[in-house]
Amino acid sequence: MLITIPDLLTREEVAYIRQVLEGTDWIDGRKTAGDQAAKVKNNLQVPVDSPEARELGTIVLRALGRNAIYSSAALPLHVLPPMFNRYDEGMTFGAHVDGSIRVIPGTADRIRTDVSTTIFLTPPEDYDGGELIVHDTYGEHAVKLPAGHAVVYPATSLHSVTPVTRGSRWGSFFWAQSMVRDDWRRHMLYDLDMSIMRVRSVMDDNDPGVQGLTNHYHNMIRQWAEV
Ligand code: NI
Repeated sequence: MLITIPDLLTREEVAYIRQVLEGTDWIDGRKTAGDQAAKVKNNLQVPVDSPEARELGTIVLRALGRNAIYSSAALPLHVLPPMFNRYDEGMTFGAHVDGSIRVIPGTADRIRTDVSTTIFLTPPEDYDGGELIVHDTYGEHAVKLPAGHAVVYPATSLHSVTPVTRGSRWGSFFWAQSMVRDDWRRHMLYDLDMSIMRVRSVMDDNDPGVQGLTNHYHNMIRQWAEV
């Protein structure tokens, strides 16, 4: 399941994040990539343990916490600290899969990467190329969104970023371990949750049909969630 979340970050948050990133040091993105990914990766990142990354990561995590769509789609158990990257002219990231297990920085704890998220931080008219391409069994999806919007997709997907041919593409990206490991199950729960919201907008919450569907949703979570 690939979904987009409009305005995950407010305009003010995007402006503030961009302002802090303007003054920070960027390092070669290959430092955090595995062997296969490092061979196809050519971008810049903010060191994950830098004060800027920590401060901006907190802003992103706060935005996730208030977003019902992200919660419903990802059903997050743990979210890794958000990272920040940029692709200047000529930079790209060839097809790769993200590592399945990552250590939470500064700890010995590991999480399984189930759900990947990219938040776009540059308006699309400010750069050419730089599409996120997500490959799945239905083909390739090219994603390029307004600043502040996010795309959420299964971390199991092969994906790439096409070369930037003009301007610079800035983004935030991170992984979550979901309470529901299986993408298809998450998809079913997400569809059911969205349908319940639509039904609740036209029917009374005390309607036995609404209550029954809501009960069913929570019982499916009970069956499938690992917490
Ligand atoms: Ni990746």
